[in-house]
Amino acid sequence: MCGIVGYVGAKPALDVVVEGLARLEYRGYDSAGVAVLADGRLTTAKRAGKLVNLRNALEEEPPPAGTTGMGHTRWATHGPPNDRNAHPHTDCTGTVAVIHNGIIENFARLRAELEEAGHKLRSDTDTEAVAHLLEDELKRGGGLPDAMRRVCRRLEGAFTLVAVHTGDTDLVVGARRNSPLVVGLGKGENFLASDVAAFIAHTRDAIELGQDQVVELRPNGVVVTDFAGRPAEVKEYHVDWDVSAAEKGGYDYFMLKEIAEQPRAVADTLLGRIGTDGRLILDEMRMPDQELREVDKVIIVACGTANHAGLIAKYAIEHWAGLPCEVELAHEFRYRDPILNRSTLVIAISQSGETMDTLMAVRHAREQHAKVLGICNVNGSTLPRECDGVLYTHAGPEIAVASTKAFLTQLVAVYLIALYLAQVRGTKWGDEVFAMIQLLAQMPEKVDKVLETMEPVRELARSLAGERCVLFLGRHVGFPVALEGALKLKELAYMHAEGFAAGELKHGPIALIEEGLPVVVVVPPRARDVLHDKIVSNIQEIRARGARTIVIAEEGDTSVEPYADTLIAVPAVPTLLQPLVTTVPLQVFACELATAKGHDVDQPRNLAKSVTVE
Ligand code: F6R
Repeated sequence: MCGIVGYVGAKPALDVVVEGLARLEYRGYDSAGVAVLADGRLTTAKRAGKLVNLRNALEEEPPPAGTTGMGHTRWATHGPPNDRNAHPHTDCTGTVAVIHNGIIENFARLRAELEEAGHKLRSDTDTEAVAHLLEDELKRGGGLPDAMRRVCRRLEGAFTLVAVHTGDTDLVVGARRNSPLVVGLGKGENFLASDVAAFIAHTRDAIELGQDQVVELRPNGVVVTDFAGRPAEVKEYHVDWDVSAAEKGGYDYFMLKEIAEQPRAVADTLLGRIGTDGRLILDEMRMPDQELREVDKVIIVACGTANHAGLIAKYAIEHWAGLPCEVELAHEFRYRDPILNRSTLVIAISQSGETMDTLMAVRHAREQHAKVLGICNVNGSTLPRECDGVLYTHAGPEIAVASTKAFLTQLVAVYLIALYLAQVRGTKWGDEVFAMIQLLAQMPEKVDKVLETMEPVRELARSLAGERCVLFLGRHVGFPVALEGALKLKELAYMHAEGFAAGELKHGPIALIEEGLPVVVVVPPRARDVLHDKIVSNIQEIRARGARTIVIAEEGDTSVEPYADTLIAVPAVPTLLQPLVTTVPLQVFACELATAKGHDVDQPRNLAKSVTVE
């Protein structure tokens, strides 16, 4: 949440910063602001609403040109999203400016203390207190980096902070605790950002900052220390995607591009992981086979869409690896007393690797001595650093707020892990594992085939734009798919959408069915005859009560035809892999319906891409 960019170099800072903010707007779009140092003076500009409002303001009144600056795009926590609460925030003297991502939990106490000492605070934010604390610390000497370290030692909560000061115009200082911040290394210029996307047009060389570190950024140097001022070891890495991946590439929305990229994303996530002998090679996870053989229980922690991937993983892990598997919403996990020990494998799934709830669950699991394996899409993010091992998904940057290609690649990752567990634990015969891996390898093609047939789904979505509610039903792995379909529709179309296990229908939800209510039903493959037939009965039950049935079933499944008002056929694949093909029409459906309602599908209201506060 909140996007941060800092720049120091030789280019006009304002251009670099605003361009960076445009790439980070998915992190929050309640307001945007910039600060530039020029001729020893600090100028700030900020506006409520999307970045375009700030751009217009900057065009009307351009700040003086300078080569040091920073910018912020906000997802509001403290105080309403207006101009006054937009970042950057300045001190009483107007010489220090600060931007912030996170929540400073002791801000009320700090604010009271500052006001008592005579500081005049002008916003409702927790961030402004930091500007005034820096003002006091700068008076004590040592420059901005020292002041920042001293201030950070007083802060509680999660924060990424970036500050500039007129006393040192070739310097940007950043700090991080529990919130993302990466450094971009250029030639004669350096960058700071919440995400490499902000500076990918300038450099692909980056440094991940560790927990409780402060970074001093100058045109020709980067110094990283801990909060006590001790030099810190840093890890440089090269970003394996380029600027074109962070652009729309001719699509109207990132979401459309990301849906279309799914066959490639699935293929990339499989790449290099299937050996020439057909066995899986997952050495990169850094989890010795012996340790995996000793596992007696798996717990999956994740939020939102990633949690739906976890719910599907449960079926795969129990079926292939023969291990009991629980799936927990990460924010619920550490507030109960989960039973964990050294033989528990906790799998944390997160696209961003920055979801605070998931990170906290990981820390809790490690404190209980469980082994923790991360599934993550963002190299250099926090999750991989906090886990014992990691399996990266290779979805490429996901910029639309609603997760699509990340979800499909998370599914591939959990299938790989479940089959790998089966391989090393011998819970399935070698030829069975081999056959399933071969089928998994065909999935990019199958997803591609689904995408080729989406026009009727788009038409259907447009015809339903006036509806107020849509229900989704599924069984087995189709149930999490139903949850995912409903989540996509809620977040993009702002409609009431609910996913149910079809077996639960007669225990209550069937009371919701009324004349004309659209109900999407995900039908398992015919090979699962009992499950299949039961859901076909469910379709008849709701249709008899007036529901408009939209049925997703495998090609050639004629048994559902008489009961489907609309039939969406997907390629026939094994049951456990079916979510890879049944989810895609639901993504397209939600995206098109929301677009028909005139919504910006890349930036749905009230949401931000990564939830970095609890
Ligand atoms: C929904 C969506 C969210 C995320 C959730 C977890 O489309 O994107 O529900 O899946 O916030 O995010 P990550 O995977 O980054 O931990």
